[in-house]
Amino acid sequence: MGSDPWRRVLDTIAAYILYYRTTQYQYQLDITGLFKGIGAAMQSLTFEGYGGVHLKGDAFGAPDDPAVVLLPTAGQSRAFWHAAAQALAAAGRYAICIDLRGHGESEHAADGRYDLDVYAGDLRAILHALPSRAVVVAAGMSAIVALAAVGESAPHIVSGLAFVDLTIWFNAAQTERLSKALTLRTESFADQAAVLAAIAAMHPQEPPPAAKAQILAAFSQDENGRYQWRGDPRALAGTGFLGAGERLESAAKRLAVPVTLIRGQLNESIPADTTQRLQALIPGAEIAEVEGAGHYAATEREEIFNAILLDFLERKVPRVPFAYTGGSEPRVLRDALGCFATGVTIVTTHDPAGAPIGLTANSFTSVSLDPPLILFSLAKNSGNLQSFTSAGRFAVNVLQIGQQPAANTFARRDAPRFESIDWALRDADGSPIITGALASFDCRTWSVHDGGDHVVFIGEVKQAWFEPHRDPLLYFRGKYRRLHFS
Ligand SMILES: Cc1cc2nc3c(=O)[nH]c(=O)nc-3n(C[C@H](O)[C@H](O)[C@H](O)COP(=O)(O)O)c2cc1C
Repeated sequence: MGSDPWRRVLDTIAAYILYYRTTQYQYQLDITGLFKGIGAAMQSLTFEGYGGVHLKGDAFGAPDDPAVVLLPTAGQSRAFWHAAAQALAAAGRYAICIDLRGHGESEHAADGRYDLDVYAGDLRAILHALPSRAVVVAAGMSAIVALAAVGESAPHIVSGLAFVDLTIWFNAAQTERLSKALTLRTESFADQAAVLAAIAAMHPQEPPPAAKAQILAAFSQDENGRYQWRGDPRALAGTGFLGAGERLESAAKRLAVPVTLIRGQLNESIPADTTQRLQALIPGAEIAEVEGAGHYAATEREEIFNAILLDFLERKVPRVPFAYTGGSEPRVLRDALGCFATGVTIVTTHDPAGAPIGLTANSFTSVSLDPPLILFSLAKNSGNLQSFTSAGRFAVNVLQIGQQPAANTFARRDAPRFESIDWALRDADGSPIITGALASFDCRTWSVHDGGDHVVFIGEVKQAWFEPHRDPLLYFRGKYRRLHFS
């Protein structure tokens, strides 16, 4: 016996305390998981996905370890990844297995939306709620979701991607198999053997014993004792997956983090040349084959699969602190700089036609009291560089905690900016001042300097206003934060 179980209890409690201190309640914690999961040091989590749909997750490991999010393919529940997650936790990762919307214990979408965009929105919401930039491990349909979620937004929302049995091009046989998989989830079965027989008939191969247990975990008995899939059958009729080849090709080309494409060596539904075609699209992607495995790579050859995953993580997303030396990836330097917590501002001015313009910036710094000088730096690829250069004035608006939506809007290129906020000119010669900001500094441009891929604007403060009673919006390690007093 020894003290191991108690050690686990203490570790789990310590992990929870740490979790509370590090995540600012960004996702809700189901405390019952603490007691249910002690044996396996598992914690139950609930995330708020796209449109507020609640998504169930099981976490293994300590929340301050680097996060790995594991998504099963359509039709499977989060138990699919439990064994891999335990192996990851033992290797010092914080591994979180998720039930997709309409699957397992996650909520069904009340509006019936199960398209590629909402599944991708769910994943983005989960990633934003985590204490560290996660690696995503995703199988089958979820691999498509992860590809879209990452490739179509800021690629650095993850630190790596492991796609398991990914394809984005579907031939007639695959389409037929997917429609059978859907039909099967709308039917009821006399007993568990009938469920397994129906699943086995879809694939060229009998599920291995561990996979059988996972399949059965996704089915429950109805009042007549018949077995039915637990989820929402609409979740499998999701649109936007089959015909999205071109869209997903563009997303694949935009990936800028380490990627591995894992496939079962004998898997007939994902031929080797499909994986090679994907590899050619994704910058720097590697391929790993699970020797001797077919359709059920992760469970059939569990140890080989886990070893491949861990090897990828150790090489490409190591646990040891990152180091930057001149010539390393700029992303590493950005992560290092992200350790410096800042406030968030919106800098504003007018374009030559007199229209207000502005963008979110955290490069604001005080420079001098006498004369009163401040600075911010603007990317040379900003659409507003010309206007800031020619206007001869600008204002810096320091945002308070309630203004995160404005920070989001002013950092996006595809949305109108000033329509969504209240602002005013406090001086005929001044720049737009955002109503309710924590502080605003109305400046005349003092000097402009070349700063590599940015231009540094130094402003002489003509007027400043501030509100001493509000909390600031903060930015740290690539995420918005709030003040937290212990
Ligand atoms: C928290 C945060 C801080 C940012 N800081 C800066 C910054 O200091 N300088 C900059 O040029 N862009 C910064 N950006 C990025 C711009 O807000 C973003 O690229 C915006 O779309 C630029 O718009 P524009 O091209 O219309 O000027 C920041 C974004 C965020 C979310």
